[in-house]
Amino acid sequence: MKVKRVLFFDSGVGGLSVFKAVKELNNEIEAYYLFDNECFPYGNKTESFLIERVDRLIEVACSRFELSAIVVACNTASTVALPELRCHIKLPIVGVVPAIKPAAKISKNKVIGILATPGTLSRKYTQDLIDSFASDCNVIKVGNANLAVIAENRLTTGKVDKKAVSKILEPFTNAPVVPDTVVLGCTHYPFVKDVIQEVMPETRLVDSGEAIGRRVKTVIKESAMIDTNKKQDRAFYTGTLENYDDRLKMVRKFGFKKLEQFEI
Ligand code: DGL
Repeated sequence: MKVKRVLFFDSGVGGLSVFKAVKELNNEIEAYYLFDNECFPYGNKTESFLIERVDRLIEVACSRFELSAIVVACNTASTVALPELRCHIKLPIVGVVPAIKPAAKISKNKVIGILATPGTLSRKYTQDLIDSFASDCNVIKVGNANLAVIAENRLTTGKVDKKAVSKILEPFTNAPVVPDTVVLGCTHYPFVKDVIQEVMPETRLVDSGEAIGRRVKTVIKESAMIDTNKKQDRAFYTGTLENYDDRLKMVRKFGFKKLEQFEI
């Protein structure tokens, strides 16, 4: 049989929020999910480190698997590594960047928040999005490397430190005018969305998942069909994995049967 095989890539479990949103609109795809737990979190890594690391992993993945398209399901990586990747990877690549444009559009009080990793917030790419689409808004930026770790742990162990989340959100909740819209600018954050919403009940939380689902739908129309004996989603990790059993249980909830090591 033939399938459209899409590689999803992230530093950790965050890309699974994108995977889920993409599958909702493109259930026919076969998904390979690669997470770089060896270098998690990406949020506090330098730009040059990320460009090299992401490039290397995706290059190895492309040499190992036949693929139709790639989704870099990570804002921290996408906002810095896409140009380099697109230079030498000939497959369609869909990146995930903070949903600043839709947030600025739907905001009524014109105060929007951007919640992301310190890396994503420091990028020129992100500032350009603000300048182009949110110049009429007061933009409050909160960059935190730990929230992705909190989300990662929640998905694996079920436990979440609500007080820590509330503290991270203080620049929003203590602002003279609280943002009516906050961008979840890291793919890990949908997994703590309910906790964020509890702290900010009046605020609309916006992520990029559905838009990426629509983008993938368009992109795969033109992309290659891959021969396979059996359609099967596969999940891969780098390096060594702590809590392997918990992780396996977790990826099974997303429909992956196995969790395999990805050697580089
Ligand atoms: N999920 C990633 C993002 O969208 C990064 C989390 C991290 O590794 O710090 O930015």
